[in-house]
Amino acid sequence: MNQDHRRFHAGLKAHDDIRINPGANPPLAELLDPGRRTLLKGGLGLAALGFLGGGLSACGDASGSPLLDFKGVPVQLDPQFDRVLVAEGYTAVPFFSWGDPVEPGAPGWKPDASDDWRAQLKQAGDNHDGMNFFPFADESDRGLLVMNHEYVNPPLHPSGTIDLGKPRDPDEVRKEQAAHGVSVIEVRKDAQGRWQRVMDSPYNRRISMFTPMRLAGPLAGHPQMKTAADPRGLEVLGTLNNCATGVTPWGTFLTCEENWHNYFINRDRADYERRVSHKRYGLAREGASKNYAWETADPRFDATPYPEQPHGGFVNEPHRFGWVVEIDPFDPGSQPVKRTAFGRFSRECAALAMGDDGRMAFYSGDDAKGEYLYKFVPEGRFDAADPRASRDLLDAGTLYVARFDADGSGRWLALVHGQNGLSAESGFASQAEVLLNARAAADYVGATPLDRPEWTAVHPRSREVYISLTNNDERGETDPLDKANPRPKNLHGQILRFNEQDADPTASAFTWEVFLLAGERKGARDSSGQPVPTNLVSTIDGDLFSSPDGLAFDARGRLWIQTDYEDGEPAMRAMGCNQLLCADPRTREVRRFLVGPRGSEITGLAWSPDGRALWVNIQHPAISFPASDGKSRPRSSTVLVTRNDGGAI
Ligand code: FEO
Ligand code: CA
Ligand code: CA
Repeated sequence: MNQDHRRFHAGLKAHDDIRINPGANPPLAELLDPGRRTLLKGGLGLAALGFLGGGLSACGDASGSPLLDFKGVPVQLDPQFDRVLVAEGYTAVPFFSWGDPVEPGAPGWKPDASDDWRAQLKQAGDNHDGMNFFPFADESDRGLLVMNHEYVNPPLHPSGTIDLGKPRDPDEVRKEQAAHGVSVIEVRKDAQGRWQRVMDSPYNRRISMFTPMRLAGPLAGHPQMKTAADPRGLEVLGTLNNCATGVTPWGTFLTCEENWHNYFINRDRADYERRVSHKRYGLAREGASKNYAWETADPRFDATPYPEQPHGGFVNEPHRFGWVVEIDPFDPGSQPVKRTAFGRFSRECAALAMGDDGRMAFYSGDDAKGEYLYKFVPEGRFDAADPRASRDLLDAGTLYVARFDADGSGRWLALVHGQNGLSAESGFASQAEVLLNARAAADYVGATPLDRPEWTAVHPRSREVYISLTNNDERGETDPLDKANPRPKNLHGQILRFNEQDADPTASAFTWEVFLLAGERKGARDSSGQPVPTNLVSTIDGDLFSSPDGLAFDARGRLWIQTDYEDGEPAMRAMGCNQLLCADPRTREVRRFLVGPRGSEITGLAWSPDGRALWVNIQHPAISFPASDGKSRPRSSTVLVTRNDGGAI
């Protein structure tokens, strides 16, 4: 989500964008020079080829046909725009909206939002986000669509408000908790070849803040995971702020816990100051927790230490979020598992790259100003002949954090106790504590602070990795300017790409470059309203956008880019409503494919196995979408995009 969405929707204080990193890392001095833009037109990309052994030449459509084979849609400037506009020759229809029935016995959505939390537990959650399609074995026309529900908007309640000025109503809080999490829905093609939901599928499932989850990996049972409600430190209730996703080669869904810190408060000032696991993650320390003040109705969100209670009450509860959660969508009775070997931060995603030998890497951004890019390399390899044997591969491995050097090279720095100075003397008593305080460990080893790392995406053939850095209006103040983050007061963001040495996902070195700088080409301003220096204006070749967020490759090797900016802000006026764009990685040309309703963010996308259906999520529309009647409650929704001639998207 964007930093201002809650202000926009709820009158709540904007806070997602508050920097936490104190910024102690050594500066990388060199700035982008005027000659850089020439380099961006292809020079460094060509240089990367030799490194990759195949590299960019392997990108793209094997047939050599143009990758951008649709006509772009125009920017939508209408303040009342209440539809989804998709490229000519394609159709987008609402498919799955907040409140739609999921589990057996779920009532249908009520326009007055009068359903209670028990109904919401069985209905689609709010704020649809990252999403993947899981086909049934040998059945390309049937699968499970699995998606995250990141947070909640005030239209969840009949009043259309969330009043934080008084203790919360426990039933309202329960409804909000029920609307978080994940939906699993079965979809299949009907006799006419149209994708439909299977309403009575045994696979349909809601996972929420009420779903028990197993803690696995180095932190399972650790003293820092024990609470008054879970003295063994082995089971957590629920998952929070699920943003982007990942998939494993063995067919499970990885949901990533992003801004979980906004749900907790620690009012003990002295304790807060010395507790790295709270302070370095930005928990609230006075007033109310930053999101919904759940602690006023549910004590486990009050992380103030209470020494008279077992395990200090819920001081450790914030340690039980910020992880990758593995869900088996094909086993509706299975318990989700929090995989702590991945490390704890505001995890945006877990994008997989797999080497020819079955070794894997999962890439994850940590979305806050000046935070880092991580990768987790499991110790074991995936064995396609015995996928079930891979089940616990995510419990042992190495977490790395990225350093981007000014010469276009990069290093993966291991966050391993006993290496790179991470020891009891430097404040990390064990590997478990390195993982628990991954941000602090990354600070210590000298990772490069980035402009809010959002999604990563891996090219399906070359394994080239792309990462969106959405924006950072304070760049150049606490965070130094560097070649990966070259713009002061960066309003519009950039996309980087990198190649691991020898295309090996487990490598410790990579080469990188700026794929593009987003924003206007003419008249661009920074976050303080000053003109952007000419060497730092947008390098977009094609359609205009700001604040890249969601990224995904399709099977043809096209990079799809989703945006998340405040479409009402004066600085974003030229951008219009948020968008889904498609980029050709070879030419860097970008074309706008879809525009969402006013106030919405475009996030999450998934394809059918035949590539003829594309599901896209429209998150937090501010207008009566999908009803588009000017009066209905706005609902986050999945839309289904198809080509009118039935061809591949
Ligand atoms: Fe949930 Fe960083 O977006
Ligand atoms: Ca965002
Ligand atoms: Ca995002």
